[in-house]
Amino acid sequence: MDFTEKYAEYKKAVEDCLKLPELENALLSEPIFHSLNAGGKRVRPILCLSFCEAYGGELKKALPVAAALEMLHTSTLIQDDLPCMDDDDLRRGKPACHIAFSEAEAVLAASAMAYSAFRKIAEALPQSASRLIKEICAYMGVEGVYGGQKLDMRYEREAEDVDSEKVLQMYRMKTCTLLQACCVSGCIIAGADEKALKNAAEYAYNLGLAFQITDDILDEISSEAVLGKPVNSDARNKKTTYVSLVGLEKAGRDAEKYTKEALSLLENLSVSQSKKFLTELTKNLLSREN
Ligand code: IPE
Ligand code: IPE
Ligand code: MG
Ligand code: MG
Ligand code: MG
Repeated sequence: MDFTEKYAEYKKAVEDCLKLPELENALLSEPIFHSLNAGGKRVRPILCLSFCEAYGGELKKALPVAAALEMLHTSTLIQDDLPCMDDDDLRRGKPACHIAFSEAEAVLAASAMAYSAFRKIAEALPQSASRLIKEICAYMGVEGVYGGQKLDMRYEREAEDVDSEKVLQMYRMKTCTLLQACCVSGCIIAGADEKALKNAAEYAYNLGLAFQITDDILDEISSEAVLGKPVNSDARNKKTTYVSLVGLEKAGRDAEKYTKEALSLLENLSVSQSKKFLTELTKNLLSREN
């Protein structure tokens, strides 16, 4: 199976799992499904599935966790677009959740989605749920995504105090940590050893830096039609980004450098199919258009 086929197979499996019959007629199901079904590359759940298979784990076992991770990611995107955060009204080519619904519904849907995600993990894998939830929460909490989002806000309009080291640390928190949670979760589900978990986390760290730098480049050079979200959002919000500090050219070179580092860490994987798939995925994310 080639890369495109495998990616499509993973994506379909995740999207089937995201149908969430338990939420079908629930209050808030409309804003939740609006954001979840709007599209999205599904990179995070696919990383979870792929790392699970890379360590001999079963796809079926990892699927609910992968879907839960996509729900957690989507909940952070709903929040990220709110007027009090990035104030963006388009997401995944559709009106942002707070535009299609109300701000209050968007806030509630984001939280409800996160609770449903943790419930999904606990129900699907009761034996490993405590370890998985502990890892995911550590990666997502004040030292992870949420702390990083706080720093992202702090660095708005304070460019003179912020250097590229600080911006990369903010990226580590707001972006790399969720990718780390995905790769590490896949390893845990497969029963991989601590050395494997460490390698997965190191890979996701480098992938995440390349991923966020590329996101910042696309914010400057792409179009709304291709990105499915507003362009020049960072400039409008006076964000300090790696691109605003070092320029497009060096940012591009450094995204390449982190991608190379990520690729070298994939050399430690032994299942050749998974190594091939993840290698291709890592390269494609650097040259992605959206
Ligand atoms: C957007 O993530 C948020 C960032 C960390 C830059 P993605 O680019 O993976 O967004 P979707 O899930 O494909 O919409
Ligand atoms: C990443 O940063 C957002 C999260 C960690 C949720 P951005 O604010 O740049 O993401 P986009 O560009 O809106 O997707
Ligand atoms: Mg943001
Ligand atoms: Mg944003
Ligand atoms: Mg962005």
